[in-house]
Amino acid sequence: MEREDFLKKLGIGLVAVCAGCSLASCGGSKSSNPTPTPGGGTPPPATGTGNLFTADLGTEIKNIGDAKSSGGVILVRLAAANVAGSFTAVQMACTHEGNPIGYNSGQGIFICPTHGSHFSTSGAVLQGPAASSLKSYAVSITGTTLTVTA
Ligand code: FES
Repeated sequence: MEREDFLKKLGIGLVAVCAGCSLASCGGSKSSNPTPTPGGGTPPPATGTGNLFTADLGTEIKNIGDAKSSGGVILVRLAAANVAGSFTAVQMACTHEGNPIGYNSGQGIFICPTHGSHFSTSGAVLQGPAASSLKSYAVSITGTTLTVTA
């Protein structure tokens, strides 16, 4: 299959997925839009340690599949309970060429729409061309405040 044919097929597939608003980074109501960077792409993941951002579980990411992104990290609710294990937080920049990934709630995986890499909810590569896992971040909850920590 020629590269152009492959990309064309991939583009059609992703449009179909996006029409259902199941790609968290496609601008649907379930996520914040990634912050644009000069030259495109998503900001690199935060470095260092400490709190990266918080979410108020009383008003944000209340439904399974909801997402919030900040500082190059995407947080997704995977289950209903307000416990840390119901969430995952990973870097938004694909490890292939740095373009933003999105969460596909229908498949329960992260997908990079640029070249089609797939990642598990913990960030492991399921399908290339990406060869490296997404960096994952710790999630903790106190009351209704969720904190993502590097
Ligand atoms: S930038 Fe993600 S697969 Fe190429």
